[in-house]
Amino acid sequence: MGAKEEIGVGLIGLGVVGGGVANALLERRDYFARQVGAPLVVRRAAVRDLSKPRSVELPAGVLTNDVRQVLEDPAIDIVVEVIGGEEPAGGFIRAALAAGKHVVTANKELIAKAGPELLADAHARGLDILFEASVGGGIPLIAPLRRDLLANRIDSIRAIINGTTNYILTSMAREGAAAEALSSQGIEPPARGGYHEALAAAQDLGYAEPDPTNDVEGFDAAYKLAIMASLGFRTRVRPSDIAIEGITKLTPQDFRYASELGYVIKLLAIAERRGGGILARVAPAFLPQSEPLAKVDGVYNGVQINGDLTGTVLFMGRGAGAEPTSSAVVADLLDLAHSLVAGARERKYWGPEGDTPVLGLEQLETRYYLRVTVSDSPGVLAQIARALGDHGVSIAAVNQKEADAGARTAELVIMTHRAREGAMRAACAEIAALPVVQAVSSFLRVEG
Ligand code: NDP
Ligand code: HSE
Repeated sequence: MGAKEEIGVGLIGLGVVGGGVANALLERRDYFARQVGAPLVVRRAAVRDLSKPRSVELPAGVLTNDVRQVLEDPAIDIVVEVIGGEEPAGGFIRAALAAGKHVVTANKELIAKAGPELLADAHARGLDILFEASVGGGIPLIAPLRRDLLANRIDSIRAIINGTTNYILTSMAREGAAAEALSSQGIEPPARGGYHEALAAAQDLGYAEPDPTNDVEGFDAAYKLAIMASLGFRTRVRPSDIAIEGITKLTPQDFRYASELGYVIKLLAIAERRGGGILARVAPAFLPQSEPLAKVDGVYNGVQINGDLTGTVLFMGRGAGAEPTSSAVVADLLDLAHSLVAGARERKYWGPEGDTPVLGLEQLETRYYLRVTVSDSPGVLAQIARALGDHGVSIAAVNQKEADAGARTAELVIMTHRAREGAMRAACAEIAALPVVQAVSSFLRVEG
């Protein structure tokens, strides 16, 4: 047995993640005690509503609706913040540090926005904030970025990093494929609300954020990308530096055309070094079916990190849910608990070292997929091709789809060669203004 006979843990939040953590601490108590050298004991767990049913049965007197009982309890060594959001979570963490407690958090929004300041505060007090669960649920990502890949110059991070949206996109793609199979047999596919049903299922399974707008509009993925890029590139990448688009505008046609053309649609979070700066974006994109990330489906996340020494390293696993996330939170708890038992050790302060600029996306050069709804009349294609050509955008393939005889409209599906995003956006604005064009219905990057 080391210097401490027991490690006191205080939970703030006992929802999906907090419940998973409490369960693991109770069920694996003896195993953790052997690993750490002393038992980890949940002393207090603070929630908002004491009357809610819980997924875990805690000893009498542990549950409270007064966070101060966690922050002010001298027997608590480590506070686990699993409520989410900037405030009051940020205030609780600062108070925990001021009270001399280490912190473990799963809060990507707070770490992405204020991580360096909170970590500097902790470091100045000889304390630590660990946040492995903030990115990728059960996949180890923060520790590899802070330690195992440290010798590298990281050149790019390409990731599917939101379980909820990947679950929804996978359901939509499968539903499209199933409908197509039925249609090909002459059977009318049943009408189903793919997007909304899949989102409701992701919420039931505990994958979604307390406010699922954060998932479907791409903010959650952007917080995670900001954390990974800041660690990987050793500079400060803020969520506001990242161009963000969500998945809410995708339609079944996009999935069908993607599949016909040999692609899948994924919400990709990408940060890469380009021309003295960093380009960072979160958006749904076409990805060739042959790419490793194209095979990452459902709640699974996949992260491809390219280091100059390692080459490409691929991480994959369940990115959300109580159990995988509790694995990451508990790993941080065990790490801190072990150092408390063994006697405090000097920890490396994580902070940005450089100030590599984050560039605007107009500098990006890639291929694009466009779906344009037009009047089904002669000369339309020529006008669109001219608008693209005037901006130096070259067409790789074009296909006319599904003419609607009643509305006298048709859909044009266009794949371009590599082009500058700035030129592409200018061409799209011109196309959208053409009298023969009803709408530029989809504009997606081809990332491969
Ligand atoms: P939940 O909504 O399931 O749980 C939130 C918990 O926090 C609830 O127990 C709630 O209490 C409590 N809470 C909220 N506000 C307060 C407050 N002011 N004072 C005290 N307690 C409060 O969220 P999750 O468990 O899903 O998420 C928690 C954190 O983990 C978030 O930062 C999220 O981004 C992150 N995360 C979530 C993952 C997941 O798969 N769900 C995966 C990785 C990270 P009450 O129960 O009484 O309402
Ligand atoms: N809502 C998040 C997701 C939880 O779906 O990925 C994991 O961070």
